[in-house]
Amino acid sequence: MSWRGLLSEYREMLPVNEKTPDLSLHEGNTPLIKCENLSKEWGIELYVKYEGLNPTGSFKDRGMVMAVAKAVEAGSNAIICASTGNTSAAAAAYAARANLRCIVVIPEGKIAMGKLAQAVMYGAEIVSIEGNFDDALEIVKSISEKAPITLVNSVNPYRIEGQKTAAFEICDALGSAPDILALPVGNAGNITAYWKGFKEYNEQKQTGLPEMRGFEAEGSAAIVHDRVFKEPETIATAIRIGNPASWKFAVEAANESNGKIDEVSDEEILDAYRLLARSEGIFAEPASCASIAGIIKQLQSGEIKKGSKIVAVLTGNGLKDPNVAVDYSEIKPQLLPMDEKVILEHLQQGLVQ
Ligand code: F0G
Repeated sequence: MSWRGLLSEYREMLPVNEKTPDLSLHEGNTPLIKCENLSKEWGIELYVKYEGLNPTGSFKDRGMVMAVAKAVEAGSNAIICASTGNTSAAAAAYAARANLRCIVVIPEGKIAMGKLAQAVMYGAEIVSIEGNFDDALEIVKSISEKAPITLVNSVNPYRIEGQKTAAFEICDALGSAPDILALPVGNAGNITAYWKGFKEYNEQKQTGLPEMRGFEAEGSAAIVHDRVFKEPETIATAIRIGNPASWKFAVEAANESNGKIDEVSDEEILDAYRLLARSEGIFAEPASCASIAGIIKQLQSGEIKKGSKIVAVLTGNGLKDPNVAVDYSEIKPQLLPMDEKVILEHLQQGLVQ
């Protein structure tokens, strides 16, 4: 039978009842891909959970289908969120499907082009503020307390419930939890959700628990440095967050699992971003590649041991942010005359005769 989406497939594991609408864009069931080339090169067993293949191109669909279904169940007719882009795309899509009004508040000029395109197309009302994600989150939290509008950021517990299903899928694909789960950390909702998912599955099915290794961008590494970053910066705009809402839960996940919250530089993120695409044919947005950058860093430091079975979560599709791809790749299209002879001559350089 074909995949029906998270609310049907994981009904027993989610807060779904007979009044919960059967909302779905067939989210979830994303591939766990073995990285054959990098595994060999690094002496580990590396898999990526490719969340960019969700309906709006990021892991946010898992949480949003649950949060929007519960908003409808509660009789709400409007939702609101702050976003660095992916949450707004998912909120707008599920709101369109459920016939809800959707308001998104975004930091001016710091949203990747693909994400903005999605919010516009799905018909969200978009407020762009001269502030960052953290400012936007404060504003929408306050508005949701004053007006009958449901907040669908990851402080909404239903978001975490939906997102925990990715941990179930990883355990099902591998037969048990990996040794290490590596993922980017922004607002810290996803690391909270994965840890909850692994613990619940382990209780039910004895699938074991991974070490949770989360990676912030160096310019926005509030948890690592134990201080709010008032002006967070990073090329990975998805995780340009200086005061993560689920800070405490991220620290708990790292401590309880014998893992770590660490940081990676923009240069390390971009190197990992290009490496993954070129050596495995997998294109994930810059923030997603903080997971790969973190693995490289901790292999070098010895914190990750050779032979480890590791899953890196690739949270969003590379096509979300075409500008960073084009701006930071050394490959440029070669302009040649429209002449087969010239093109063939050009290609013959470097060909083995
Ligand atoms: N990766 C991507 C591609 C994201 O969009 C986000 C968060 C994260 C990682 C970090 O996840 O916040 O749960 O720690 N994006 C949010 C948004 C903030 O508005 O789309 P987190």
